[in-house]
Amino acid sequence: MEKIHAVYNGKFDTLNNIKISPLSRAYTFSDSVYEVIPFYNSRIIAFDKHISRLKNSCKALSISINIDKASEEVTDLIKNNNFKNGYVYYQVSRGVDDIRSHIYKDSISTETFGYIIEHAFKSKSLKVMLCEDLRWQRCDIKSTSLLGNVMSMNDASQRGCDEVIMHKNEFITEGGASNVFFIKDDCVYTPSLSSNILPGITRELLISEIKEKGIKIEEGQYTLDNLINAESIWLTSSTKGLAQVSEVVDCEIKLEIDNELYKECKKIFDQSFFI
Ligand code: PDD
Repeated sequence: MEKIHAVYNGKFDTLNNIKISPLSRAYTFSDSVYEVIPFYNSRIIAFDKHISRLKNSCKALSISINIDKASEEVTDLIKNNNFKNGYVYYQVSRGVDDIRSHIYKDSISTETFGYIIEHAFKSKSLKVMLCEDLRWQRCDIKSTSLLGNVMSMNDASQRGCDEVIMHKNEFITEGGASNVFFIKDDCVYTPSLSSNILPGITRELLISEIKEKGIKIEEGQYTLDNLINAESIWLTSSTKGLAQVSEVVDCEIKLEIDNELYKECKKIFDQSFFI
């Protein structure tokens, strides 16, 4: 396997050379946050938005971060590699405990870790499974505590699915690692921001681009029934881009593949992101 370039606490090395303490709170408590920052044609997509969300995630958990240093490490990973298209995974944990304790010491030093990986951003149609949202009540924080997502996405994978669409009390929340959009009667719908979903950056950029082009889009609270009556469904994320759902298992949804409005939105998306 090729060596993966990484950075740990400011020191650049290959991933296999990095040693971390088992008392890292990222390891014992998932006391950490992260970003997945995509770049295409060597240009970082929405860098400021990713950095600002990282800052917000740290703030929500009172993790201190030197945001300029973090930004520099992300850009250095990209500059020092020959990949044209890919992403940087960047994680910030509260730090390493002397001994495991729920209550952290104020003197703890922040622990940072990032690596770069090549990624093709190929558009793929997705088979998805609907499932109950098992997660905690602060899904707006981009925390590495993702067990609910991991459990559901692995159940879905066992069923031959690529993703899940989660619902809480009958209302659609989001995908396991993506945001959800659907089309009904010439209008695009997506769940509005709340503590139940991640404020996806792809979601935000797409909404602003399609609004600018005069396409009708509404953000609100949508039920499973709304989704089941949709003509087209798609998911967005920094790694998936905008991916159409081709099938929802165990469900009587009649999806139109390559729906006209979907194609228009997809074209707008590709023209704004993949330049
Ligand atoms: N996940 N919702 C969840 C739960 C996510 O994990 C993600 C992205 C998104 C989309 O956010 P964005 O458009 O900013 O990538 C929504 C990343 C890609 C991951 O965990 O790998």
